[in-house]
Amino acid sequence: MKPLHDIRNDFPILQQQVYGKPLVYLDNAATTQKPQVVIDAVCDYYRNDNANVHRGVHALSERATAHYEQARDALVAFIHAGNRREIIFVRGATEAINLVAQSWGSTNVQAGDEILISAMEHHSNIVPWQWLCERTGAVLKVIPMDDSGALLMDAFDTLLSERTRLVGVVHQSNALGTINPVAEIIAKAHAVGAKVLLDGAQALAHVAVDVQALDVDFYVTSAHKMYGPTGVGMLYAKEALLDAMPPYQGGGDMIRTVTFERSEYNDLPYKFEAGTPNIAGGIGFGAAVRYVQSLGVENIAAHEQQLLEYATAQAQACGYIRLIGTAEHKASVLSFTVNGVHPHDLGTILDRDGVAIRAGHHCAMPVMQFFGVPATARASFAVYNTQQEVDVLFAAIEQAHAMFQ
Ligand code: ALA
Repeated sequence: MKPLHDIRNDFPILQQQVYGKPLVYLDNAATTQKPQVVIDAVCDYYRNDNANVHRGVHALSERATAHYEQARDALVAFIHAGNRREIIFVRGATEAINLVAQSWGSTNVQAGDEILISAMEHHSNIVPWQWLCERTGAVLKVIPMDDSGALLMDAFDTLLSERTRLVGVVHQSNALGTINPVAEIIAKAHAVGAKVLLDGAQALAHVAVDVQALDVDFYVTSAHKMYGPTGVGMLYAKEALLDAMPPYQGGGDMIRTVTFERSEYNDLPYKFEAGTPNIAGGIGFGAAVRYVQSLGVENIAAHEQQLLEYATAQAQACGYIRLIGTAEHKASVLSFTVNGVHPHDLGTILDRDGVAIRAGHHCAMPVMQFFGVPATARASFAVYNTQQEVDVLFAAIEQAHAMFQ
């Protein structure tokens, strides 16, 4: 991987000061910063190629279409999909899960069936399944976790049955950092005939993913957590599943012919891409994927793991910090509480030192309920973070703690 100094220079936003202090951006699980190559890809589209895709016969539309479709090809290669028909552009991981719950769910789930999710899911991987269960009379079941934030796989074995239609599990928890044993989950789910959806919103910039080797049925992610733009993401699904699924939304691009009597749908992947898409976002997503590939996911993961271990050791040495999420397999996320300091107060005080963390429930309220806290403070790492920034974080935490004594 290229030197950290050069990587930091790829991100113009990092060069600024906040309240007169160098910005220490540790809110990467909420959204990562964007490298110049992604900013340029979005700007170049608007500056040079702006036109609608898949429609025009003119040069601009052809260029826009080519760049947009190259982004799809970048995703195929990145996650090792079987082909480009398996990559659907969506607004983000949330929309992808809603798409699967509505489209696949409407034709594959009935009263008495079971959907199995985990205790560490983000709201996006809970609410769509609750709705599906309300609509169909299916039952939502939850795989519990232990005090470290690791899934209880014995309980998973017990909950899994021939009634299970789908197992929906986060690949890496945004609130805890836990990386789940997804290969084992998929193999066991398939053995009882269940499909598996992995929520990869947090994982894909930190964990190398090969959807064919995993044999996963659905894999979803958002571009903005992997150095890409907001408002765009990906649904990967096996082609045979997508073929059998009804469209999710109706509109332009997803149809072949329309009369007032009936409509015939377009081929994959366009069958699931109604309306003018987020073209600039898709092109930026492609640039982000190429950027991550140029650094190497394994290299990014190794760097972040060093930072996580360094930060974890400092937190453990403090005596007044409780770590939330200490699973053996975890990455890039340090969730914690500080004795006597509410996470929101901590976040506000750290901000004055230029340190950006997230304080809150991280859109995972059941996780907070499980650990008996209203919220946590969360520092989350990306490829451009440094050990020196971890030191700044802990110096600022120490000051905040002293202030509240
Ligand atoms: N889900 C995002 C987070 O973890 C927004 O902060």
